Amino acid sequence: MTALDLDFIRSSFPAFSEPSLEDFAHFENAGGSYACRQTIEWLDRFYRQTKVQPYYVFPASRTAGEQMDAARRRMAAWLNVGGDELHFGPSTSQNTYVIAQALRQELTPGDEIIVTNQDHEANIGAWSRLEDSGIVVREWKIDPETAELNVIDLEALLRPRTRAVAFTHCSNVVASINPVREITDLIHDAGAWAIVDGVSFCPHGMPDVPALGADIYLFSLYKVYGPHLGAMYISSQMNAELPYQGHFFNALKPAARFTPAGPDHAQIAAVNGVMDYMDSVYTHHHGDAAPAADKAAAVRDRFRAHETALLQPLLDFLSAHPRIRLIGKQQAANRAPTVAFSVAGQSSASLAVRLSDLGLGLGVGNFYAYRLVEALGYDPDDGVLRASFVHYTSPEEISRLIEALDSLV
Ligand SMILES: Cc1ncc(COP(=O)(O)O)c(C=O)c1O
Repeated sequence: MTALDLDFIRSSFPAFSEPSLEDFAHFENAGGSYACRQTIEWLDRFYRQTKVQPYYVFPASRTAGEQMDAARRRMAAWLNVGGDELHFGPSTSQNTYVIAQALRQELTPGDEIIVTNQDHEANIGAWSRLEDSGIVVREWKIDPETAELNVIDLEALLRPRTRAVAFTHCSNVVASINPVREITDLIHDAGAWAIVDGVSFCPHGMPDVPALGADIYLFSLYKVYGPHLGAMYISSQMNAELPYQGHFFNALKPAARFTPAGPDHAQIAAVNGVMDYMDSVYTHHHGDAAPAADKAAAVRDRFRAHETALLQPLLDFLSAHPRIRLIGKQQAANRAPTVAFSVAGQSSASLAVRLSDLGLGLGVGNFYAYRLVEALGYDPDDGVLRASFVHYTSPEEISRLIEALDSLV
């Protein structure tokens, strides 16, 4: 595979030519990515030309609705799922909350749900609250030495009354890419639903969702170069089995059953911007037309190759440093470029300030993976540092980060 054309990639992100961001290196991408030019253009165009109630017969309204439908169709094709299986809500936290309310109605006291302590709280708290309806919530715990979830520990937790298991494709702190298919097969063998948080995985290339075997797969578009929306796949089967949460007269409309809040029309239309960008990356590097799922695989592989090449030197530096504790794997294989660490004898918060003074934007805290950070032995209110990057990050930015850490630690 030839390399990612970084000049082309970076020219698609206005942030890289924004004077106020000059010399700033963005290392908090797991919190939120820059938006691609196409997303910004779609939002701007929608607000100028079609900012009316969609789906009526007058032209601006009809066009608005058509644009929203196209966005859903295009993203669903990229994920290899049906259009009716993709829902857009305000955020992943909100989407999990709605599904949890559906489960509250569906499950009976004594039924069990398994959550992990490797997840972001969005994929824990919504399910844990069901304890007040008599649901038993069990925790699949990480190994505190490695920060990894071991599949064998899940096997011991699955029981005849287990109805759902919520786990992460990739933690926003540990960053290991969990063996989703192996886990979903195990969950299905136990007769339960598999609910997978893909928020930290998708910025690095959206997956073929059916290949993962998830019944629900969630991610956040504001981390995937798009607008502030949560995307949620629900299999047709699970959609039909769960009680709807929307207006009663929409009960038979699959894509409206789990989005009780009115969706943000402009942002849904702007998902076309993400798809235009992904299409442009494919066409620029591969040329020929191809089915959407094949394009998705090619773009994912290309992002991953670039990110892996940049990640390994950073992991090598951090793991070799005597005062740095790196969280997660030392090897880039099966790891997202989200790198959390702490430094002995130095506060993470003050180090973040000094890095910021050098033009490097890192996150600090628990990243709402509160239980994970606590299980790793940290004070969750102090937390750890996190350098997270994506395919638009350059080798020079990585070198700057390593040099800055070398001088400050
Ligand atoms: C791994 C992970 N899951 C879930 C969420 C929640 O997403 P949202 O902000 O869309 O609710 C986040 C947000 O940072 C996250 O990093």
